[in-house]
Amino acid sequence: MFDVKGKVALITGSSRGIGKASAFQLARSGARIVVSSRKQDACDAVAEEIRAAGGEAIAKACHVGSHQQLRDLVEHVHGQWGRIDILVCNAATNPVYGPLSTLSDDAFTKVMTVNVQSTIWLSNLVLPRMAANGGGAVIMMSSIAGLRGTGVIGAYGMSKAAEAALARNLAVEWGPKGIRVNAIAPGIVRTDFARELVESPERRAQMEQRTPLRRFGEVEDIAGIVHFLASPASAYITGQVIVADGGETIS
Ligand SMILES: NC(=O)c1ccc[n+]([C@@H]2O[C@H](COP(=O)([O-])OP(=O)(O)OC[C@H]3O[C@@H](n4cnc5c(N)ncnc54)[C@H](OP(=O)(O)O)[C@@H]3O)[C@@H](O)[C@H]2O)c1
Repeated sequence: MFDVKGKVALITGSSRGIGKASAFQLARSGARIVVSSRKQDACDAVAEEIRAAGGEAIAKACHVGSHQQLRDLVEHVHGQWGRIDILVCNAATNPVYGPLSTLSDDAFTKVMTVNVQSTIWLSNLVLPRMAANGGGAVIMMSSIAGLRGTGVIGAYGMSKAAEAALARNLAVEWGPKGIRVNAIAPGIVRTDFARELVESPERRAQMEQRTPLRRFGEVEDIAGIVHFLASPASAYITGQVIVADGGETIS
């Protein structure tokens, strides 16, 4: 049920963190991996690590905020492997902290372009051929910041809510063509992205206190869900948001 052998998986933001762990999990399960982030050398290093561990991987740099770079990425993968079966829209940015009352138009546009517009662009580039090849699975990386209000990362939260909504809309649009689209909403996961939260002893104590499982998430906690949503084990799930936050939002 969890077999993804031979499937081609494109994962944006896979040079570090959740994306890299997801790439390794899918590679261990037999998928062919396209490693992508803004930096070619970082992508090359991860692809080499996957190959050294016995997996199959290629690397191609792409800034997801550029429509042209996304086109080049998708064409490159089709040129190399002729198909994309699993798409993980994972790369995102959070350039500003502070109340929405001080948010600049530029910062809002940047968050929405990199986190939301990019995902629409990439989906529209990948899904028609995925459908023509018989279907596949798409996974958006949302966040519990998209489920709750916050005084400091409001624009990021709005973009993550939009990604979950996008998963629902694309699920309706592409379900009849055999493509499932789901989102994952992680709580705080120990990566560079969340370093400020994770490294503050005060915040750590607060977080552990309010979280039933009493810990931050690890990248493998999310990679396992990516594997599940990419595999036949989740064949009847589409348009959903899977929350993985140690119980933070229910306590
Ligand atoms: N960590 C958390 O607590 C947490 C919680 C909820 C949701 N999330 C979501 O999980 C996803 C991954 O986060 P993470 O914590 O794994 O972050 P991370 O460790 O900082 O990794 C981010 C990855 O994205 C790449 N990247 C950044 N900007 C990019 C861009 N414009 N175009 C292409 N690639 C880009 C980075 O590589 P380069 O620098 O080489 O581009 C890197 O590979 C994000 O969507 C984030 O919103 C994270």
